[in-house]
Amino acid sequence: MTNRTVQAPWDGLLLDARLATLTDNGQPYGSVEDAAIGWKDGRIVHAGRAADLPGPAASLAREVASADGAWITPGLIDCHTHLVFGGDRAHEFELRLAGASYEAIARAGGGIASTVRATREAGEDALFDAALGRLRRLVADGVTTIEIKSGYGLDLPGERKMLRVARRLGTSSGVEVRTTFLGAHALAPEFAGRPDDYVEHVCEVMLPAIAADGLADAVDAFCETIAFSPAQTRRVFERARALGLPVKLHADQLSDLGGAALAAEFGGLSADHIEHSSEAGVQAMAAAGTVAVLLPGAFYALRDTQLPPIEALRRHGVPMAVASDLNPGTSPLLSLRLAMNMACTLFRLTPEEALRGATVHAARALGLADRGTLAAGQRADFVLWPVRRPAELCYWIGGTLASAVYAGGARIA
Ligand code: NIG
Ligand code: FE
Repeated sequence: MTNRTVQAPWDGLLLDARLATLTDNGQPYGSVEDAAIGWKDGRIVHAGRAADLPGPAASLAREVASADGAWITPGLIDCHTHLVFGGDRAHEFELRLAGASYEAIARAGGGIASTVRATREAGEDALFDAALGRLRRLVADGVTTIEIKSGYGLDLPGERKMLRVARRLGTSSGVEVRTTFLGAHALAPEFAGRPDDYVEHVCEVMLPAIAADGLADAVDAFCETIAFSPAQTRRVFERARALGLPVKLHADQLSDLGGAALAAEFGGLSADHIEHSSEAGVQAMAAAGTVAVLLPGAFYALRDTQLPPIEALRRHGVPMAVASDLNPGTSPLLSLRLAMNMACTLFRLTPEEALRGATVHAARALGLADRGTLAAGQRADFVLWPVRRPAELCYWIGGTLASAVYAGGARIA
């Protein structure tokens, strides 16, 4: 056949953009000015100078548009959330304001246990609808990948229900969901006074069943005086390892139980919270390549005063991720960008560190190498921000700044 028009090879191309690639290209934010981004089949094919495009724009892609000078970043990654839960804990907020501590409320049967009751009672569709509403807010301001933990079921039906809802959120929202089994979050009421028996149940009944269902991408535990001891946590980690699942840990949030080092010993993807971690814990994380996940929302909501060891993390080169910890008790935070703002204001991260923390380092905390930067071959997850400079993503407190959100090359907000 003659005069056949050449099929435009790329799915989309945005011109007149400024890229914060978050690669190590020697520029702050890995930035590239006078840039363009092109994608095909869900992957980035060009993220660089427009002048380096391999031909005239109109011939390169099926859809060519202008970004109108917007900054484009990788899609934000919220690498630590408890997005799926029943009910709320606004009443405990009131109690804490009246002077009760988080630990005291937990010991009195409130806290995580009250969310467990509400979550067990909730139907699967109701859980899904409530979580989807929260997820939409995160997505509207740039989140394209989210980790969701179980841990409010504390029995096999309840944990399965939560993880099924989490998986369903992934298939129906366009966002990629990574699930984490957190059976060792709190002691199930049926096992009151028998924490070792509960840990055995987690290891021998729940974990193998969840793994067989393919419902969990990782395993987490809450290692704390009000939750599980290092020895109990170790048992959970050993079982996870035997089942081939990577681990992460709620570590050293309220006291230093050596959680950071324990997570590192098991090659953990991340140690999260870590306000009370020691220098030795940080060193162990550095040696193991374990990411530090900073959760300033919980620090803020609990009016904590013990800062995470930021200087030591920097000195030892431990990657610092930033996440919302979205949960009904300690971090009812519906914005990853607000967590980034808090990481700067409360923890003194630079805006660039906070943005790397919600992109490239967050990807690593989930064991994902295919996202978190803008580069050819990476997933086409990116966000347009009509701002003058990338620091504005951390500077504005709240609100919604994103003007367009793409995941796998499809526009999702
Ligand atoms: O990440 N620390 C334990 N888990 C959650 C709190 C969960 C809750 O209070 O419901 C956290 O802070
Ligand atoms: Fe958490």
